[in-house]
Amino acid sequence: MNNDRGILEDIFEQTRLLKLEKKLKHNYALVLVYDLLFGQGIQCGGELKQCISKNKTALQSCLARLKIKAKVHRNEDLLPKGALETGSIPRYVRINRIKTSMKAVIQDFKQNDYQLVEPQNISSFVTQSKNSVDKKFMCDKHLSDVLVFPAGTDLHDHPLYVSGHILLQDKASCLPAHVLAAPSGSHVIDACAAPGNKSSHVASLMNNKGKIFAFDSDSKRLTVMQKLMKKASVECVTTRNCSFLEVDPLDVKYSNVQYIVVDPSCSGSGIVSRMDNFIDDAEDKRKKEKRLESLAKFQLSVLNHALSFPFVKRVVYSTCSIHQQENEDVVEAALKANGDRYTLDRPLPSWTHRGMAVFPGAEKCIRASPDQDYTNGFFVALFVKKESEMEQKRTEHNGVLPKRKRKHSNGVVTEPEMSSQSESTNKINNEESMLPLAHVMATSSHDNLSPKKKRRKRNKNRRK
Ligand SMILES: C[S@@+](CC[C@H](N)C(=O)[O-])C[C@H]1O[C@@H](n2cnc3c(N)ncnc32)[C@H](O)[C@@H]1O
Repeated sequence: MNNDRGILEDIFEQTRLLKLEKKLKHNYALVLVYDLLFGQGIQCGGELKQCISKNKTALQSCLARLKIKAKVHRNEDLLPKGALETGSIPRYVRINRIKTSMKAVIQDFKQNDYQLVEPQNISSFVTQSKNSVDKKFMCDKHLSDVLVFPAGTDLHDHPLYVSGHILLQDKASCLPAHVLAAPSGSHVIDACAAPGNKSSHVASLMNNKGKIFAFDSDSKRLTVMQKLMKKASVECVTTRNCSFLEVDPLDVKYSNVQYIVVDPSCSGSGIVSRMDNFIDDAEDKRKKEKRLESLAKFQLSVLNHALSFPFVKRVVYSTCSIHQQENEDVVEAALKANGDRYTLDRPLPSWTHRGMAVFPGAEKCIRASPDQDYTNGFFVALFVKKESEMEQKRTEHNGVLPKRKRKHSNGVVTEPEMSSQSESTNKINNEESMLPLAHVMATSSHDNLSPKKKRRKRNKNRRK
């Protein structure tokens, strides 16, 4: 049995289910066969149910053979790590480093009768906690600011959550900020930012120092985001209600941006509690395929736009979708269009679950799933600017930034976008908007200065 692919893939292969039932797409089959063999039976009706019902005996016999081979008695013992059920995804807690530290949070939980355990991996933690009523938690093995609690642990009323010291965020959704690895003081764009989980995480990893320009086209979601920023004491984020596609990559405001997060709208098919979305009749299936197509087109346009910012070094693309169309296919198309300037990197080397090998290099991407990683379904790709391109940009611009579109005759740069009513700033003011262009350029050419030194230099220039 191939454990990496999981038991369901073995069953598909041995019963030739997907070959016999052409109408049955892989994702639907995963959910339906899981429900039939390991869950509470197939809930939906229609054509897809018939596809499975016709093969019910073959599927059940196959399962019985696999149990004998694996020498197990219960069906669920065949599941790779027992994590496919919604209820068995652990509760992940992200530490907000702006307000606290890992040490302090661990101490707090220990003082409140939680026991810090050190299992070999999440799999043993999940198994242990299933059979125990003790309050336990562990440090995540991949992400230094994430703690793991048993599935179903409700911390919504916990004082640390209420005060914004910790956030309840799925581990997979914590991957992009770590993969981005923006140092403290960096300038970052979060292209599709609301409700702000990635922005607030990036801010936490940057110690709240630097700038995060956060865009979102949905004003209501941005309102939620602003509340989250306040609760988490994030001060380096500026939100703006607009389409990221309208943001000018040559705007001098973004000339120090070297890091971009692209986490666009997606089908959400990786969210376990939404798996039932797959169970549908044929008409809905056609609609969903059309929707996927248009989502992928949109995702590619946002990613291509991010890759067009001239001084960007790292772009992280992520979705909470399990569909190749929204993941590897989008990355492949973006590489085709930008391969002269960007290459794919392989972040988090210790993460074993990788992109589907549908084009050379796709396995550098990260995939996460309930059955292999105890998270919701997720996808992350990291684009890095080629060194030759960086060198060329440095020579081309020689420290001088591209011209901004609105430069006034008196040399004062105005920020039309920043002055819009929909703009909201968390502490960052628009001081740059009133500075002469020459000054802004001079400041930006000192990329390597610490924020403190930059501020000092800016004040000195202002006095001149
Ligand atoms: C997956 S959600 C982002 C989640 C967010 N990154 C987080 O971690 O909390 C996608 C977001 O993209 C926004 N969006 C859709 N089209 C957009 C566009 N053209 N420009 C900017 N944001 C857009 C949606 O309103 C939605 O809030």
